[in-house]
Amino acid sequence: MVLSRNRRWAQLLLFFAGLCKPFSRSNMCSGIVENYVAAMVLSAAGDALGYKNGNWEFCKNGSVIHAKLAELGGIENINVEDWIVSDDTVMHIATAEALVKAGKNIEPSNLYPLLAKKYKECMNDMAGRAAGPTCMNSCFMLNPATPNGWQIPFHKAAGGCGAAMRAMCIGLRFPRPDQQNDLIRISIESGRMTHHHPTGYLGSLAAALFTSYAINRKPTHEWGKGLMDVLPLAKEYVEDAGRDVSQNLDVWSYFEDQWHSYLEKRGILNGLSLPIFPEEYGVENRDQFYSSVSYSGWGGSSGHDAPMIAYDAILASGDNWTELAHRAFFHGGDSDSTAAIAGAWFGSMYGFKGVPKANYKKLEYRDRLEQLGKDLYHLV
Ligand SMILES: *[C@@H]1O[C@H](CO)[C@@H](O)[C@H](O)[C@H]1NC(C)=O
Ligand SMILES: *[C@@H]1O[C@H](CO)[C@@H](O)[C@H](O)[C@H]1NC(C)=O
Repeated sequence: MVLSRNRRWAQLLLFFAGLCKPFSRSNMCSGIVENYVAAMVLSAAGDALGYKNGNWEFCKNGSVIHAKLAELGGIENINVEDWIVSDDTVMHIATAEALVKAGKNIEPSNLYPLLAKKYKECMNDMAGRAAGPTCMNSCFMLNPATPNGWQIPFHKAAGGCGAAMRAMCIGLRFPRPDQQNDLIRISIESGRMTHHHPTGYLGSLAAALFTSYAINRKPTHEWGKGLMDVLPLAKEYVEDAGRDVSQNLDVWSYFEDQWHSYLEKRGILNGLSLPIFPEEYGVENRDQFYSSVSYSGWGGSSGHDAPMIAYDAILASGDNWTELAHRAFFHGGDSDSTAAIAGAWFGSMYGFKGVPKANYKKLEYRDRLEQLGKDLYHLV
């Protein structure tokens, strides 16, 4: 179709106007729609790469994965066409679709049943994607058609990373400081629809919060301190919400203690200093470290350490996609979940800069992911 010259100019103007919507800093206006799209797409690309059709999520030896990666010609040569996305992306899409469907009406009575419905429905798309047992069992219990049917009881073994791996888009939807209370409440409630345990749903909060920081280009070494400052507010919310409060508070401290200890190790507890890494921090050292911060030896499989490992990788990689992939996508732990989270943060900050096209061009669900990125952007 040939447009008249005037219409073409008008469209061009509208296009640029649409690109530019600063949130908290006047100097951050630079193609932010692309960052939303990249956050959704690169999260899924990371997921597909870290998952490798199940072979790599469950490989416990990072050196073996890196050797195989080198054999394939390195990440630049990986075409994801035949690498399906895992449960992480399917559930991330479910979260994003519920947020988009709710539109501006984010009242609990509107948004929470929509989230529960999407989580329940997406379980029909889990063939070959290794859905976690906690997510499957909880989704079975959800009953979105009845009032409060989106609530499930506290569960003492629900500290896995299934809530964290699907929450990044909540940070895209609520990126502004004045939206922080919504980000806290919605990341917690969507998280505890399947993971009603603080270690699980605080992972959801961390994944969402850091995505909001990433989209605002908050310097990465300040993020950890930001999380420590937000945790008391999260606790207040859980107390006020009044559901299984004492059970939640009894096991509250694990997440906070683990993060405190990690941030201390990297020297960034104060949010001012730059991170310090061990001198020797290659594939094997990282595997050991990831395992040491984990709950039961499998790094990244819990709500606290999935965002932690993604953060460790983001801190060290800057805008280098290859380096990020080496650290967050390819290791001996729960690699697709740390990858899905890290990929979203990378896209939020750097867009598609330096990312080989083969890593996302033929990605499964790419169209849906792109559209969700755009829709979320326009809702903010
Ligand atoms: C991982 O695999 C490498 C290479 O095959 C081997 O040398 C190393 O001992 C393995 N590490 C562990 C912890 O099993
Ligand atoms: C990015 O990281 C890779 C892997 O460590 C490295 O080989 C490459 O030189 C880095 N690129 C830049 C521009 O620093």
